[in-house]
Amino acid sequence: MKKYGVNELRRMYLEFFESKGHLKMDSFSLVPKNDKSLLLINAGMAPLKPYFTGQEIPPRRRVTTCQKCVRTGDIENVGKTARHLTFFEMLGNFSFGDYFKHEAIAWSWEFLTKVVGLSEDRLFPSVYLDDDEAFDIWNKEVGVPAERIFRFGKEDNFWEHGAGPCGPCSEIYYDRGVKYGCGKPDCKVGCDCDRYIEVWNNVFTQFNGDGKGGYEELASKNIDTGMGLERLAVVCQDADTVFDIDTMKALRDRVCELAGVVYETDPKKDVSIRLITDHIRSVTFMTSDGILPSNEGRGYVLRRLLRRAARHGRLLGIQGKFLAKLCETVIRDSRDGYPELEEKKDYIFSVLDNEEEKFNKTIDQGLEILAGMESELAASGRTMLSGDDAFKLYDTYGFPLDLTEEILSERGLTIDMEGYKKAMEAQKTLARNSRKKTNYMGADATVYDEIDPSVTSEFIGYDRESCEGTVLVMTKEEDGNGSIVNTLSEGESGAVILDKTVCYATMGGQQGDCGRIVLTEEGETTAEFDVVDTIKLKGGKIAHIGTVIGGTLTDGDVVTVSYDRAKRTATAKNHSATHLLQKALRTVLGSHVEQAGSFVSPERLRFDFSHFHAMTKEEIAKVEELVNEAIAADYPVVTKIMTLEEARRTGAMALFGEKYGDSVRVVDMGGYSIELCGGTHVANDCIL
Ligand code: ALA
Repeated sequence: MKKYGVNELRRMYLEFFESKGHLKMDSFSLVPKNDKSLLLINAGMAPLKPYFTGQEIPPRRRVTTCQKCVRTGDIENVGKTARHLTFFEMLGNFSFGDYFKHEAIAWSWEFLTKVVGLSEDRLFPSVYLDDDEAFDIWNKEVGVPAERIFRFGKEDNFWEHGAGPCGPCSEIYYDRGVKYGCGKPDCKVGCDCDRYIEVWNNVFTQFNGDGKGGYEELASKNIDTGMGLERLAVVCQDADTVFDIDTMKALRDRVCELAGVVYETDPKKDVSIRLITDHIRSVTFMTSDGILPSNEGRGYVLRRLLRRAARHGRLLGIQGKFLAKLCETVIRDSRDGYPELEEKKDYIFSVLDNEEEKFNKTIDQGLEILAGMESELAASGRTMLSGDDAFKLYDTYGFPLDLTEEILSERGLTIDMEGYKKAMEAQKTLARNSRKKTNYMGADATVYDEIDPSVTSEFIGYDRESCEGTVLVMTKEEDGNGSIVNTLSEGESGAVILDKTVCYATMGGQQGDCGRIVLTEEGETTAEFDVVDTIKLKGGKIAHIGTVIGGTLTDGDVVTVSYDRAKRTATAKNHSATHLLQKALRTVLGSHVEQAGSFVSPERLRFDFSHFHAMTKEEIAKVEELVNEAIAADYPVVTKIMTLEEARRTGAMALFGEKYGDSVRVVDMGGYSIELCGGTHVANDCIL
């Protein structure tokens, strides 16, 4: 068997499924979109949930991806064991109501045995207890002898992660040989030791679980598969652990080089080497997706990973900052599958560098505070630091507990661990109580989710003020609840969805248009709807929000829709100004400045961006001057549709982690500011 590298395996997998009619999609961002149940994408299927439940229509019914994933549930074990990782890549092929068990099973076998060349004798499929259908496919169609197929219960062969799409599954185990076994007489497929490892999981996604044991049959039967790329590489490369596959080994070696240590000479150091090797990957990818270190949510996960890595660098004796150096290796070895890493390289370096510097300061500050606490202990003749003090060091000053422990133990002092745990518990209870409860798919469920997913609207309002459109769906708002209706009459409020509209829907920070929807019969206005907002709904629907101010609108009516010109013009000015502002900020502060959010309305604009310090008065004045100069320069504003590749070549600024289609809209202001943007802008083509 050839020892394929990680990058080769990724390519082989995606090409194989493309050859089976799948659409290859780039990995989605680690930041979930419209999914409050998840902090970070943790499986290939996670960003595809709306396709499984039928809420959105997929671009094709067969899709294949290699998805970057972060799981931090086992973070305490990372480094200590040779198999836990926080970052991994998941290969997946998905069917949304298209093929089912027969094809999924046959193709997984074909890929592993024919494409990768794994020996059939080492592969063992498993099925869910009573899934005779899957058993028969393995046995009769694929030809695996019955005694080599295992039946497992819900714990192993029913896949669900919280609430959402789930179902029975069929896993494929690989026998790595006796040398990895536990030696127990009953060691067989399913044993917890390292001999039999699951490489592939075929999930027959046929239910939507509510997370509490209730299952609703999904309208269509789907396939969700997952194969950890790192695990596949372990098997193909006959590597001892994930830390020994080509890309991970290169990273591990770099850690050793920076620290001047040799792997596998000191078990304690090995823990640190593995931990840094793993964490730097999560940190690099999370930063490339626009997450910034902070004290809550995703930002906190990033900060924690980053600081743990930095701390273990100190334990290994690395002097000064090293994380950015290490992330160069991650980028070099992963840019094949994730070109955004290369594009955001300088930005990633500066975020890592900055946070590491802050952390180093934290450590120095913590050491000082700890020294004060030690003196108090000595003065009172005690040898045990109180749990509250240890927790305060950790919680308020970010000083890691293990460091406190280590330093104290060098002086023959200890920590009241019981007291520490109590303080931690009290904190957690506080945090839990203040956290808002969210559920899964239902988190944002509104009447809009009940609309037929095949309904879509086209926006044609960049260069015309009004158009004709057909009423496709209407909803009525009553006592805070919405319902789908066929007619909407005078005085009633709700949403009107047309097949075509000139009203711009809230997107990319730009507020939606206000406007009018008018029904005329024989030249007379018979109904009128006042549009106070326009919003984008899932699946490319545009909803006009407002109230009927005369007559009745009925499904199927052909109406004329127009936007409020004065408001649109004011909004356009503010939107164009945000582009100039971004350019000026990057010029004055540096290219690490990235848009983190924005708000553009007729009245004002707000621009959120990443930077490491508050701006000085001089910097603000300089930015203002540059924007005013650019406005006075009267640059022509030109919008063009081009391929993403062409846009990249023009150096157009794009948003972090945003998924762009193949063709994108580029707004070019005299070459001074070039940005990917779907918004409406000033034309600046009038000659005075
Ligand atoms: N969603 C399945 C998994 O993560 C394939 O294992």
